[in-house]
Amino acid sequence: MSTATLHIDITKTAHSRLPGLDINNLPFGKVFSDHMFIAEYADGQWSKSRIVPFGNLELSPASSMMHYGQAIFEGMKAYRSDNGDVLLFRPLENQKRLNRSALRMAMPEVPEEVFMEGLVELLKLDQNWVPAGDGRSLYIRPFLIATDDYIGVKPSDTYMFLIITTPVGNYYDHPLKVKVEHTFFRAVEGGVGYVKASGNYGRSLYPTSLAKKDGYDQLIWTDAREHKFVEESGTMNLMFVINNTLITPQLRDTILAGITRESVLAIARDWNVNVEERKISVDEISDAFDNGTLQEAFGTGTAATIAHISEIGYNGRNLVLPVLTPESLSKRISKEMDNIRRKRTDDIHNWVYRVC
Ligand SMILES: Cc1ncc(COP(=O)(O)O)c(C=O)c1O
Repeated sequence: MSTATLHIDITKTAHSRLPGLDINNLPFGKVFSDHMFIAEYADGQWSKSRIVPFGNLELSPASSMMHYGQAIFEGMKAYRSDNGDVLLFRPLENQKRLNRSALRMAMPEVPEEVFMEGLVELLKLDQNWVPAGDGRSLYIRPFLIATDDYIGVKPSDTYMFLIITTPVGNYYDHPLKVKVEHTFFRAVEGGVGYVKASGNYGRSLYPTSLAKKDGYDQLIWTDAREHKFVEESGTMNLMFVINNTLITPQLRDTILAGITRESVLAIARDWNVNVEERKISVDEISDAFDNGTLQEAFGTGTAATIAHISEIGYNGRNLVLPVLTPESLSKRISKEMDNIRRKRTDDIHNWVYRVC
C-alpha cells in the first residue's frame, strides 16, 4: 500500500442515527451510516477530501453524470470479527477495478491513498455501524461521478468521489429461481460489461422486471451474439458443478471480474477441486441436468455472497436442481469464505485487511 497521507477534514454529525438502528431488521441498502467521504477532482488534482454527515449533494443539473452516464461504482463490505475487529476483504482489488472502470469511462483514476485512507477513516468513525453476526455486514459503496456544469458531450473536467455505507443482512433470503434470457442482453463485445458503469445496471432493470413477473428472481444473461453462452446473473458471476468439476464462464469484456469469483476459484484450487474457466453453453447445462451430472449452480458476489440457484428456466422448462447438503461444494466454500472474511481461519492468501 502507498504510504502517502491524505489530509481529511472531518465534520462529525451532532445527532447519530445509530441508536435507532434495528440490526434484526436490516433491509438491503436503505439505512445509511452517519457519515460519508467525499473527494473532488479538478485541474488534474484530487483535493477537498472530507468526511461529513451523510446527506444530500448539491450538483449542477447540467452535470454529465446525469445526462451521459459518466458514473461508476464499487461494492464491498466490512465485516465484524468475533473479537470485535472491523475487517475488509481484498479492498485494493476494488480500488483497482474502480480504476479500470474509470479508464473505460474516460474518468480520472482514484489514487490508492484517496480510496484507502478515505475508506479507513470513514470506517473508523462509523465503526459502530458494522453489525456483528453471521450474514450481517456493513455494505460499502464507493462511487465516482462527473460534475462539470456543461451540457456538451465530452468527458467532464471535474469529478466527485464518494463513499457511503449501509448496514445489511443477507441480500437473498432464499435459493434463487433464474431464467435464461434470450431476447435482451447485458453486455456486448467492445462494450462496458467488464466495468461497473452505472448504465449496465439501469439497462438490466426492464428485462429483469419481466422475468420477475414470471416468478423468477433473476436472469441468466447470455452472450449478445447468439444467446448461447452463459455470462452472468444480476450482480453475480455464475458457477456450475458438473460431474464434480467447478465450471465458470471465462472472463471476457462482457463479464465483470468478480472479486468473490476469483476468491472462490482460488479456494477450490487450494482444495484440489477440478476448476474450468471456459465458455459454457446453456445447452451444456441443460444436457448435464438431463443426464444427472448437474450437481450445483450458484452465483458469487459481494452483496449476494454465494447464492444457491434452485431452478433454471430455459426453453419453457424449469430445471429443478438437486437439494444441497452440508457437503455440497458451494456450501463448503461459502462457509470457508465467511470464516476467512471474519478471520476465524488462517488467511493464507492475505486477503483480510484490518481497519480497527
Ligand atoms: C455484474 C456483476 N457481476 C459480478 C459481480 C460480483 O463481483 P464481486 O464478487 O466483486 O462483488 C458484481 C458485483 O459487483 C456485478 O455487479
